[in-house]
Amino acid sequence: MLRALELRKDFGGLTVLHPTSLDLRPGEVHALMGENGAGKSTLMKVLAGLYRPDAGHIEWRGRRADFGSPHDALVAGIAMIHQELMPIPDLTVAENITLGDEPCGRFGRIDRGAQLARAKELLGELEADMDPARLMRTLTVAQTQVVEIAKALGRKADVVLMDEPTAALSDHEVAALFRAIGRLKARGVAVAYTTHKMDEVFRLADRISVLRDGRLVGTAPASELNPSRLIAMMVGRELADVFPVRATPSAEVLLEVTGLTREPAYRDVSFQVKRGEVVALAGLMGAGRTEVVSALYGLQPATSGTIRLKGRPLRVSTPQDAIAAGIGMVNEDRKGLGLIPALGVGQNITLAALRRFANGPMVDPATEAAAVTAGMKDFAIKASGPGQPITQLSGGNQQKALLARCLLTDPELIILDEPTRGIDIGAKAEIYALIQQLARSGKAVLLVSSELPEVLSLAHRIVVLRRGTVAATLDAATTDQETVLRHAMPS
Ligand SMILES: Nc1ncnc2c1ncn2[C@@H]1O[C@H](COP(=O)(O)OP(=O)(O)OP(=O)(O)O)[C@@H](O)[C@H]1O
Ligand SMILES: [Mg+2]
Repeated sequence: MLRALELRKDFGGLTVLHPTSLDLRPGEVHALMGENGAGKSTLMKVLAGLYRPDAGHIEWRGRRADFGSPHDALVAGIAMIHQELMPIPDLTVAENITLGDEPCGRFGRIDRGAQLARAKELLGELEADMDPARLMRTLTVAQTQVVEIAKALGRKADVVLMDEPTAALSDHEVAALFRAIGRLKARGVAVAYTTHKMDEVFRLADRISVLRDGRLVGTAPASELNPSRLIAMMVGRELADVFPVRATPSAEVLLEVTGLTREPAYRDVSFQVKRGEVVALAGLMGAGRTEVVSALYGLQPATSGTIRLKGRPLRVSTPQDAIAAGIGMVNEDRKGLGLIPALGVGQNITLAALRRFANGPMVDPATEAAAVTAGMKDFAIKASGPGQPITQLSGGNQQKALLARCLLTDPELIILDEPTRGIDIGAKAEIYALIQQLARSGKAVLLVSSELPEVLSLAHRIVVLRRGTVAATLDAATTDQETVLRHAMPS
């Protein structure tokens, strides 16, 4: 139905997508897999009319198509759910969902009632219970993602390109999306899908194409592949152990949180993290995990309770306070709180640690440049150079840049909120190794992750939050997924 014929895409003289051919068929889910920066999003954006190919062309329903803009593609019947969410914060959910496609009433005016009803219906298809009159800016990342999906579904397109649609979603929302995709397939819609979650691919895909370094490695029916073969195609080698051996914690308590409260998000939260220890905060979406770590980092201070670092009481009202005290954090929402879009990769990395490169009142450019080079190398950040705008990097590489920034401030307590979201399997293994290495060097790590295998394999102890309170503190070595979930579920 939609065919890519020898599509090539260059950026600044660099070919990021070598001539690639692919076809999307009606009623089929075609997964696009590959490491960070492999070219998945680029290929989708060419198909969606956002980028013009530098060579090759697109064939749509048997005819050559020349999409000059995403609007052209959308009119032709091709919709895309973008990896980097692009909501308009001051519009309502309903306005975002129907953007550019508003139901009109008399005199060509927007029919607000119909708009709300349409949004409600589409959100219903995703089993999302959300008031369509809410402003986008009040939504969580997960809710924003649901809205973006609803928006694409509402276009009644014949092809839907989904670029990591589940990155921020909880299991429940993922299940609802999968049911919606099932209905799309039944209607004969062609779906292209990217994800870094291995289990999803095999639950969803009919065929799988793998990209590596901008080249198509191959396309195969999902039934002919298994996870290890797929990973080998993606990374070009067999990946031995994803999870490294855990470090041994010391007896010294580095962080002690007592009775931390900010109603209604969380109350009376107490836990400790020792040097050399990885403690995970587990819980369902909305259990208060992100809110608690936000308090520790001064983003949204608690109203009562105490935080002690190395035995001393600590007041953190701003992230600057936290950084000065030796706390670093990598955030869940890289767009909202993490990255500065106008700056290059290099400056984004050194931003929080500029004082380290000071030479009198000025920043010493040579030292800064050296730190950037080291950071980009240590984290294998794929970019044309330190000056490349951070927004041009692939999603996973943006995440790695945030980690590099955090560690450059040399924190003693490192808070990682969903650190591997959108990160490919090879880079995940690198980040896991890094976490244990940090622990081994005497740092303390506080991890928030929705991926239970990650929590169970990385953490020493698991603090389970349920509706804002600590439901249990578990020893990771002797617990399992079911136990964690049982404590996390509201009773
Ligand atoms: N607008 C742009 N300008 C310059 N380079 C770009 C631009 N967009 C993407 N690139 C580069 O193209 C390469 C492929 O990026 P792409 O976003 O397609 O990767 P991806 O496979 O989607 O990765 P991820 O899994 O991290 O999302 C990357 O090296 C990226 O830096
Ligand atoms: Mg991408």
